[in-house]
Amino acid sequence: MSIFKKKPNEEAIVIDDRLQHIAFIMDGNGRWARRRGMPREYGHRAGSKVFRDLSIYCGDIGIKVVTVYAFSTENWKRPQKEVDAIMTLLEEFLFEALETMKARDAQIHFLGDPSPFSEKFRALMEKTERESAENHRVLNIALNYGGRAEIIRAANTAFTEKGGEISEDDLERHLYTSHCPPPDLIVRTGGEYRLSNFLMWQSAYSELYFTDKYWPDMRHADVDAAVREFYSRQRRFGGV
Ligand code: FPP
Repeated sequence: MSIFKKKPNEEAIVIDDRLQHIAFIMDGNGRWARRRGMPREYGHRAGSKVFRDLSIYCGDIGIKVVTVYAFSTENWKRPQKEVDAIMTLLEEFLFEALETMKARDAQIHFLGDPSPFSEKFRALMEKTERESAENHRVLNIALNYGGRAEIIRAANTAFTEKGGEISEDDLERHLYTSHCPPPDLIVRTGGEYRLSNFLMWQSAYSELYFTDKYWPDMRHADVDAAVREFYSRQRRFGGV
C-alpha cells in the first residue's frame, strides 16, 4: 500500500499510449539529508522509500515502463560508506522485489554492467529478472550504468554479430533497454539540468522535466505535475 495519499481535492491523472515510459534521475538524496543535519545515507534510505512508492504509483496510473537511475558507473567514486549504504538498500529491495513485482505484474530489468557486484548479488539480480519475466509492466533499474559505455558495448556486439556496417536497429537490439520503448518522459529531481550519462541513445526524443525538489520530497502530485507538463507539449519527432 502507498505511504503517500493523494489529497481529496487533487484530480486523478489520465494516461494514454503517448506516455508509456517514464524515467527518473533520482537526485538530491544527499542534500535532503544534510538539510536535516543527517548523514547522506539517511537521504538514500528516504529516497528508496520514495522510489518504491512512486514506481507503484506510476503503475497504478497506467504507465507501462518505469526506469530509475539507481547507481551510475561514476558513483563508485563516492565514500565507501555511502556506496555500501546504497548497495544495502538495493539488496533489501531485491529480497522483497519478487513478491512486490508479482503483485504489481511487473518484470524487473537491470540496466548496466553487473560484473563488479558480488556473485551472490548477481545471482539475486538474475533470479529476480528470470522469475519476474512473465509479468507485463516493466521496472528498469539502472545499476552500474553509463550511457556512453552502453552504446559502445551495443555497437561492438552488433558489429561482431553482423561482421560489417550496422544500422540503428542493429544497435538498439543490443542496448540494455531492447525489451522496452524509449522513455517518453525523463524527470530529474534535485535542481540540476543535465542527463548525466543516462539513457544517452534512448533519450533522443524524450521530453525532459526538471524540478528543484529533492528526490525524497517527491510525491504523487509531483509525478502528476510532470505528466501534465508532458501532455501540454507537442512532440514532433523531427517532423512539423
Ligand atoms: C542521487 O542523489 C542518488 C543516488 C546516486 C542514489 C540513488 C539511490 C537510491 C534512491 C536508493 C536505492 C535505490 C533503489 C532502486 C532501491 P545524490 O546522492 O547525488 O544527492 P545530492 O545531489 O544531493 O548529493
